[in-house]
Amino acid sequence: MSEPKPILSSAAKHRDRMDELHRLSAEAEAGGGPERREREHKAGKLTARERIHLLLDEGTFEELDKFVRHRCVDFGMQEQRPAGDGFVTGFGRIDGRLVYVFAQDFTVFGGSLSETNALKICKIMDLAMRAGAPVIGLNDSGGARIQEGVASLAGYADIFLRNTLASGVIPQISAIMGPCAGGAVYSPAITDFIFMTRETSYMFVTGPDVIKTVTHEEVTKQELGGAMTHNEKSGVAHFVSRDDADCLAMIRELLGFLPSNNVDDPPRRATSDSATRRDETLNTLVPADPQKPYDIKDAIHLIVDDGYFFEVHEHYAKNIVVGFARLDGRPVGIVGNQPAFLAGVLDINASVKGARFVRFCDAFNIPLITFEDVPGFLPGTQQEFGGIIRHGAKLLFAFAEATVPKITVITRKAYGGAYCVMASKHIRTDANFAWPTAEIAVMGPESAVNIVYKRDLDKAPESEREKLRQEKIAEFRERFANPFVAAEHGYIDAVIEPADTRARLITALRALENKRDTNPKKKHGNIPL
Ligand code: HXC
Repeated sequence: MSEPKPILSSAAKHRDRMDELHRLSAEAEAGGGPERREREHKAGKLTARERIHLLLDEGTFEELDKFVRHRCVDFGMQEQRPAGDGFVTGFGRIDGRLVYVFAQDFTVFGGSLSETNALKICKIMDLAMRAGAPVIGLNDSGGARIQEGVASLAGYADIFLRNTLASGVIPQISAIMGPCAGGAVYSPAITDFIFMTRETSYMFVTGPDVIKTVTHEEVTKQELGGAMTHNEKSGVAHFVSRDDADCLAMIRELLGFLPSNNVDDPPRRATSDSATRRDETLNTLVPADPQKPYDIKDAIHLIVDDGYFFEVHEHYAKNIVVGFARLDGRPVGIVGNQPAFLAGVLDINASVKGARFVRFCDAFNIPLITFEDVPGFLPGTQQEFGGIIRHGAKLLFAFAEATVPKITVITRKAYGGAYCVMASKHIRTDANFAWPTAEIAVMGPESAVNIVYKRDLDKAPESEREKLRQEKIAEFRERFANPFVAAEHGYIDAVIEPADTRARLITALRALENKRDTNPKKKHGNIPL
């Protein structure tokens, strides 16, 4: 017969439990151990816990499910069941505001997603939805945990569902800080903003090896799915950062412009920048020659609070500029055609970029300020075959359905369909301003004359033709290429002195502070995807 176990005194029992707590906690915090941690540091990456520490306000992180272990018993997995299972999840504060966060720890099974750590993510997403707080995901993972098979795939699908249901309810932000491959990319893809670290992250659906087998193309991981590929070429990512620390600082910055959820207002911040500040340089910003470019970002910087513009999608479709700024301390979303790049023309990529941003702002009660200088939609077979009709319609749809305060400033060209699309009065824009340099017409004078006076020009003797064309162009420009005809119709509320733009925008925003507008009741619209 075995000896009866000694009965522990109450104090000893408590001590034992405390020791167990500390042991488990230390086990979870050790992750995959010092060697793997060292490997990450050498590669220029931080660990999951180091990242959370930098992301959140000091001392605010409350970890959940620290002792969760996986349940896999195949391939010897029952011998390796680290506490926490490689994902760190919980909540904390950014600038004092509640956020939920998860971070994949590459040192534990390559940050791969198991059934149990998928449940950890689902738990914080459900909590975030109930609390009305943003979710930030720090991704660094080899994808589905291979040893778990379909249980891991199920975990991904559970997350995708939550991402979809949370879309437009709470801001969802993804940082790619290591690998993100296969179907795993679709969780970040559903979220609102994707950050990537410049040297250490990549995203792709199928990697270089598969591509080589299937299409015989040779491509490196970075070329295929590195930060610049997705920031410049595909538009999948919205931000590129120097490294992990820079990425986390940028996420904090972005959060400062966003409300916590779709029924909150975005946070206001005190500013010493006067609401009535004039800037004379704006009066001469637009060149006298309508063919000459200027940088719309110069206008934005001169107008917004403290000249601070937080650009989104900076490297993609540069012919349109989108991003956040503040006016009177209040966050606004800015959309501007960029005459300094492809003359600010609207093409497929610019339309999609603009539409996505407009919809985000509308979903989260962020007023929209549109700066317009657009010669029209880009002509050509490439654009037509690529579906510029459908993609351009996205931008139109997005502006038209938006019910947040909308203000437009036409700085120069507003031609054709692009005039209608870029938050014109006709699609429920609240305040439409134009600078005296605005040209609002069906098309540019040159093209208009070639069509309207085609017969006259053909009939004119060769020697007279060019002179006649120039006369007609001048006449056309004089008659239509100005803001006053539109102002006569009431399509422009006021033609303003550019120097006064800041003051006029702020006055309009204040007047719209309590704006309420709705769309007809429906399940959802059918944006031309
Ligand atoms: C289990 C994994 C893993 C995975 C990596 N590891 N990926 N364990 N499941 N998916 C483990 C490795 O065994 C290793 O363990 C540690 O993580 C680090 O991996 P390394 O290969 O040594 O690191 P590195 O050389 O940096 O290469 C990283 C990598 C590579 C490129 C991500 O590990 C890789 O190709 N992994 C597989 C990626 C993949 O095909 N995943 C499935 C994608 S499909 P030790 O113990 O040695 O440290 C998918 C479907 C999702 O995800 C579908 C959703 C609908």
